[in-house]
Amino acid sequence: MFGLSMSITLFFPSFDFISAESTWVGLDKALSNGRTMGWSFEDPLVRGDGKPLTVILDKDPKTGETIDPPVRAYVYKPGTPLASPINHPNNLGPTVKSLGFSKGKIDQASKEAGAVFTISYADVNGEEWAYPELASVTRGWTVEATLATAGDENTRYVGKGKQVYTTEQCWWCHTLLPEHTQDWQVFGWPPYQGDMNGEMPTAFGSDRKAPDLLHVASRNSSREWMMMHFFNPRLVQPNSIMPRFDYLWGKVDVNGNPIDYAKWRKEYEAYRKGEVAYPPEVPEYARDSEIRALIDWILTSLK
Ligand code: HEC
Repeated sequence: MFGLSMSITLFFPSFDFISAESTWVGLDKALSNGRTMGWSFEDPLVRGDGKPLTVILDKDPKTGETIDPPVRAYVYKPGTPLASPINHPNNLGPTVKSLGFSKGKIDQASKEAGAVFTISYADVNGEEWAYPELASVTRGWTVEATLATAGDENTRYVGKGKQVYTTEQCWWCHTLLPEHTQDWQVFGWPPYQGDMNGEMPTAFGSDRKAPDLLHVASRNSSREWMMMHFFNPRLVQPNSIMPRFDYLWGKVDVNGNPIDYAKWRKEYEAYRKGEVAYPPEVPEYARDSEIRALIDWILTSLK
């Protein structure tokens, strides 16, 4: 199924992850993405099922105390496969692994019981290190209390969104890999090796027909723009070659009303021909739609 060039596009197989220490970005991606694919049919690759939820907490789910600035937590409901570097801690690098065990208690995480993780910092010889912490054990943050504290508005379907990016094959056109060239002035700084520890597929791409997306949310954080651009890129970029991804909205909108795609396109055609002044409105997506996950991932992970 996978040709050589596709493998390079998705995986870039030549890194020695074991000796690289995981960065905050690497931990954030690993804990948000959850169990990513290996080469087994058990992996929930295609549908983006079995993914954790990333939540933003401005209150402690146990004590109710304010957390300022807010922190991210990664919620694994019971049965959700744990993140790759939790199952294979060598992927964290030696120092981060050791902190994750001694302070973070990550060895106590269990798929059956469910788990809540966060990322903490420790001082090692005057240097600050990010490490994963099993907050359900160290802080008593239960899955239910953490989800209830965050509510839907502070919950992001990041892991599922990354999966949509891979399965929709956005990487044929986009990269997630600015290079050490003039690139960084437009697309932001290249990733560090430790940003990718245990991530599979990295999907960082080998061919670019479109802008690099690694830091796209730093230059464009508008959910409305993303919605219009995904529903039909020509709404915001008249000559765009990007395909429309309107089908990621699914059958119904946020209120459960069926989305009439044929009617929408007819009205859009009238607008394109100049018969009416405004294009039809893009439907509000349902909370469990694939487009919500994709935009959640872009705006949360690609900063
Ligand atoms: C056929 C090539 C192609 C594919 C496939 C494609 N895009 Fe694009 N994309 C583009 C181009 C070209 C642009 C530049 C703006 C435009 O023309 O719409 C763009 C722009 C974007 C932007 C805004 C970039 C910026 O710098 O502001 C985002 C975000 C984006 N695409 C995400 C995606 C995602 C997610 C997918 C998969 C679901 C995808 N694209 C699939 C070609 C593509």
